[in-house]
Amino acid sequence: MNVVSKSERKILPINIRQYTPKDEAEVYRVNEASLEISFRYYYNMFHKRAPELFLVAEYENQIIGFILVRSGQNFGENHTAIIFAIAVAPQYRSLGVGTQLINAIIDVLHHKEINKLYLHVRVGNTRGIQFYERLGFTKIKRIENFYHWGEAAFRMVKILK
Ligand SMILES: CC(C)(COP(=O)(O)OP(=O)(O)OC[C@H]1O[C@@H](n2cnc3c(N)ncnc32)[C@H](O)[C@@H]1OP(=O)(O)O)[C@@H](O)C(=O)NCCC(=O)NCCS
Repeated sequence: MNVVSKSERKILPINIRQYTPKDEAEVYRVNEASLEISFRYYYNMFHKRAPELFLVAEYENQIIGFILVRSGQNFGENHTAIIFAIAVAPQYRSLGVGTQLINAIIDVLHHKEINKLYLHVRVGNTRGIQFYERLGFTKIKRIENFYHWGEAAFRMVKILK
């Protein structure tokens, strides 16, 4: 991999673009390596509903990350969005890819006049929580038994405007 030592805090030069159905297998590979839940059966549904809210990160023509977001009404509030999934392939983490994916989606949400961005994260995902806090998300609620295996989640939010 032609990168960048972590201590230099360089950013991997990636290309961010919308998902297309031919990306399914590559996105699934990142999903499987990174998340406890498979979103595979929802990829095409999300893509059809709002292609601008399903983005992939490419490096050297390979998909190394993705973000899946839904906008509309969340928790009774209109003009909000929620991150369903974000993942970066293990060997490409801590190189700014996740940050670039979040920033790209926030840019899209600004154009869609979305006010708040929500997400849920496992309470045990300390590094994930740190990642979100550094990006300006705040914990607002702890939800017991959120996941089917019984683990609790934090709901976090970032105010966009
Ligand atoms: C969370 C995640 C998307 C961040 O992507 P990333 O490209 O590593 O993010 P960035 O490089 O922009 O920021 C790195 C920071 O994210 C955090 N982080 C979270 N999990 C990490 C991991 N497994 N490896 C490295 N950094 C991680 C750390 O705070 C890290 O800071 P550091 O570099 O000082 O250690 C990615 O690590 C990932 O896919 N993790 C597994 C899946 C997951 O937890 N998804 C979110 C749950 S809802």
